[in-house]
Amino acid sequence: MSFNVAIDGPAGAGKSTIARAVAKKKGFIYVDTGAMYRAMALFMLREGVDPADAAAIADKCKEADITIQYVDGEQVVLLNGENVNAYLRTEEVGNMASTTSAQPAVRTKLVELQQALAAKSDVIMDGRDIGTVVLPHAQVKIYLTASSMVRAKRRYDELTAKGESCNLEKIRQDIEDRDYRDMHRETSPLKQAEDAVLVDTSDMTIEQVIDRIVALIG
Ligand code: C5P
Repeated sequence: MSFNVAIDGPAGAGKSTIARAVAKKKGFIYVDTGAMYRAMALFMLREGVDPADAAAIADKCKEADITIQYVDGEQVVLLNGENVNAYLRTEEVGNMASTTSAQPAVRTKLVELQQALAAKSDVIMDGRDIGTVVLPHAQVKIYLTASSMVRAKRRYDELTAKGESCNLEKIRQDIEDRDYRDMHRETSPLKQAEDAVLVDTSDMTIEQVIDRIVALIG
C-alpha cells in the first residue's frame, strides 16, 4: 500500500514550498493539486467563460483534459496536451481558480486524477480538501496555516524579488477574499480534518516547518 501525506491550508501558507522539500527528503512524489485547479481556471479564462456563470463552467470543464507528468521530479500539468506550468502562478489565474474550483463538476474530475496518483505512489499532496475528501485515509495529515498578514508579506516579498510591482494591502485583501471563498463554498470547503495536526507557521522558518513535518511522518 502506498504511503500518503495530506497537507491542507489557506492560500500562501507555504504548502507547496514545504511539501516539495519534504517530498525530496523522504523520496515521495509531490502532488500539487492547486496547479490542477489553476490549469482548469486557465482554460476557462482562455475560453472567455464568465466566472459568475456556474452552468457554463460545469459545461466547459468537459472539454478540458488535464493530466500530470513528472519531469526530473517536477510536476508538469498538461492541459489538452500542452504544458501550461508557466501560466499557472499569476494572481489572475489564482483568483479564477478559487471561483471555478467551487463547481462540483470540476472537483469530481480532478479528485479522480488525484486519487489515482496517490493509489500508485507514495505521495505528499497539498490542497484544500486532501485530508477531508481526497485522501481521508492518509497516514499523516497536516493543516498548515499562518496569519493573513504574514502570508501577504511572503507573497509581496516573492513578487518584489521578481521585480513585479505590487501592493501589500491589495494582496492581503485578495488572500482574505480567497480564504473566504475556499472556506464557505458548499462542495469540499477548506477545513481542518479532525485527525490533522495543526502547524501555524507565522513565527517559524521554512527549515523549522520542514523538520516538524518530517518528524511527524517519522
Ligand atoms: O493552492 P493554490 O493557490 O495553487 O490553489 C488555487 C485555488 O485552487 C485555491 O484558491 C482553491 O480554490 C483551489 N483548490 C481547491 N482544492 C484543492 C487545491 C486548490 O479548491 N485541493
